[in-house]
Amino acid sequence: MPASMPASRPADRSAGRPPRNAPPGFRLPPAAQVAWLMADPLGFYEAGRRRFGPIFTVRYPGLPPEVCVATAELAEEVFATDGGPGRAGEMRRAFIGPLVGEESLLCLDGEPWWRHRRLVSPPLHGRAVAAWKDRIADIAAAEAARWPVGAAMPVRPAMERVTLEVIMRVVFGIEDARRLGALRTLLPRLMRLAGSAALVRIPPHARERALNSPLLLRAGALPTTRYVRVRDEVDALLFDEIARRRAESGEAAADVLSQLVAARDEDGAPLTDREVRDELMTLLVAGHETTATALTWTVERLVRTPRAMDALVAELAAGTTAARGETSYLDAVVKEGLRARPVVLGAPRLLDEATKIGGYEIPAGWYLSASIPLVLSDPEAFPSPDRFRPERFLASESPSEDVARANRAWLPFGGGRRYCAGAQLALLEMRVVLAEVLRRVTLTAAHPEAEKRRLKNVTLAPSRSGLVIAYPRAGASAA
Ligand code: HEM
Repeated sequence: MPASMPASRPADRSAGRPPRNAPPGFRLPPAAQVAWLMADPLGFYEAGRRRFGPIFTVRYPGLPPEVCVATAELAEEVFATDGGPGRAGEMRRAFIGPLVGEESLLCLDGEPWWRHRRLVSPPLHGRAVAAWKDRIADIAAAEAARWPVGAAMPVRPAMERVTLEVIMRVVFGIEDARRLGALRTLLPRLMRLAGSAALVRIPPHARERALNSPLLLRAGALPTTRYVRVRDEVDALLFDEIARRRAESGEAAADVLSQLVAARDEDGAPLTDREVRDELMTLLVAGHETTATALTWTVERLVRTPRAMDALVAELAAGTTAARGETSYLDAVVKEGLRARPVVLGAPRLLDEATKIGGYEIPAGWYLSASIPLVLSDPEAFPSPDRFRPERFLASESPSEDVARANRAWLPFGGGRRYCAGAQLALLEMRVVLAEVLRRVTLTAAHPEAEKRRLKNVTLAPSRSGLVIAYPRAGASAA
């Protein structure tokens, strides 16, 4: 990453320290590198791999250089820095600290991060999230029932409505219709304002001042003021919800908020209200747009790969589920969707000590990043990487050593200790939403050409937002 967020970035602490043995990189001026990256993120990184091989350096104006790696083996070495010099939290703080808060799992490092991770992880484990399957299915079915018949429609906003509803009901555990209605309007507005160019292009120190100065916050036209007003409205609702859960006696409900309020660390201490609020915002920011985009891309690929669409629809119609330890076609489609069109550009770490990787020594103060799209298109692990072929994950269709190699290199959720905390929820959502939608409607592409990958906030999104045409599926029951 750092480029996965088109924002102002932390100061370059590496300046003036000439590397002794750094990986090769483009000779272009840093400003030209960043312009290329913003215009064509995939083309830029692929050109780096073609020209320099699986490890190369990218330079940004006024920022530390970023060493990108393009194979699963090298990515594992990047993730191994989590136990040592790699700082994922510090790296992210400058981009999303103001939105998620300083107490967020995304922005912490070291012992404070570990304390939060231990408390946030249990309600997001596979078995815990499996209990939410029916609620997610109801949300997806209600959404699909609203889709226009026979007219081109973008899938992405529809998927965003689904994933937002899942966050509000399942993660925040909110049932009250009035609160849900308020958050349905406020949360998308908050995310839009937080990601708007007007806000993210302000240098971090100036932004910090504008966000905290009572005088500047009176200027309603400033993007920082507009953002703070919506954030404060959201915070008021969240703090109120936290207070209600604290007041509730008895066993904690299954939603993540109730579990966070009930959680105690090793010393028996609970998370403070501020810490709980920051984690709720974290789960919204990390889990809403990412999952919606991954679903959109999977649909975008399926409508252009009739063989895979037919096989999936046949499996859903037959109602067959995979035996324990086996992979269903639906699982394989989800994995292949995340592989062929990963939504996160990279998993970066800021190094606080010099680190050896791939025969090079990367200086302290540099970024070291696993380039997720490059690893997931490595032809050694994924033969014919441009083809959408769920069968590469099925032992019944591909040699078992190929399936094992593909599984080892499949890292759309990053890795190491900072592995995505919501991966099980994201995978469940993808499986359930795809199944519910495809049982009800047939989908075709509204344009024959594949959609291009564009950087949108924190994700690599389809250029036309996944434009499809839907018709009710013959014999499908109404939602
Ligand atoms: C398809 C959807 C998703 C994708 C592709 C995705 C991907 C990622 C990636 C690449 C990372 C960084 C990992 C690293 O640096 O090694 C990450 C971190 C994280 N994700 Fe996800 N994510 C998704 C959905 C979710 C959901 C649904 C949630 C929760 C509701 C979530 C919560 C988090 C959190 C809290 C972190 C930070 C973990 C830490 O630093 O300890 N993600 N995700």
